[in-house]
Amino acid sequence: MKIINSIEEMRATLAPLAKAGKVIGLVPTMGALHDGHGSLIKTSVKECDVTVVSVFLNPIQFGKNEDLDKYPKRLEADAKLAESIGADFVFAPSVQEMYPEGDPLTLVRDESLECLYCGAYRSGHFRGVLTVVAKLFLITKANKAYFGEKDYQQVFLIERMVKDLNFDIEIHRVPIVREASGIALSSRNEYLTPEEKERALGISKGLAQAKAAYDAGERGVARLRDIVLKAILACHGQVQYIEVADQKRLQKCMGMLKADEKAVILVAAFFGKTRLIDNIELG
Ligand code: PAF
Repeated sequence: MKIINSIEEMRATLAPLAKAGKVIGLVPTMGALHDGHGSLIKTSVKECDVTVVSVFLNPIQFGKNEDLDKYPKRLEADAKLAESIGADFVFAPSVQEMYPEGDPLTLVRDESLECLYCGAYRSGHFRGVLTVVAKLFLITKANKAYFGEKDYQQVFLIERMVKDLNFDIEIHRVPIVREASGIALSSRNEYLTPEEKERALGISKGLAQAKAAYDAGERGVARLRDIVLKAILACHGQVQYIEVADQKRLQKCMGMLKADEKAVILVAAFFGKTRLIDNIELG
């Protein structure tokens, strides 16, 4: 396993492999790898000949008051984990390497969802994500890329970007990995105190209860949201949003869901100062 820091070297390394017909898999990350990333890497290793894990803490997807500075950084441990799962390369460019001109003038942004769900509270976040992901696709020319479903709006927008801009890459969604308790794995879980982590279970519990209600026939959007809200409030979490959206277009659902409607409940809530997101598919 090799760590590569320069775009030129990454391109020069992958070009002959692609020419030889190797299938290249890309797992984009911001580092602080956990078993959720492990599952993405494992899937890529299984499905591709070559796996590149990018580790890049992308400053342009963080707002001014967000956690860019305190985001955990541990490239050596990340590289060891990636290697142990079978990754071939870790691509870890510097900010200067990725944005030599400073903040990019050219950005990829979506026109409809950037102001909904997480986008409503993280101004500029998704255009930062889409821009860096587009750059990583262009640098690696990977055949397949792997994203976790915990960031549901993110993977939805990346799939749309690939369709809208004709990127020649397959996007693979990998299911959320949860601890035995139910909490979704996230690099941000590290910010939680043990007591906050215990209370944060309110999110996954609420989502599981709402899914059980849906499976038992509940189709009222407000009632489904209310189940999640009550579970989070019972654990003294601070809800940022709870929305039910249709899986196909990620538009907000209102009123009653159709009997067979495929929907998803999307949640963001704070426990202490830590903002967590989670979701569960219905149908
Ligand atoms: O999900 C993440 O870790 C990041 O948003 C991504 C996709 C690596 C882009 O920086």
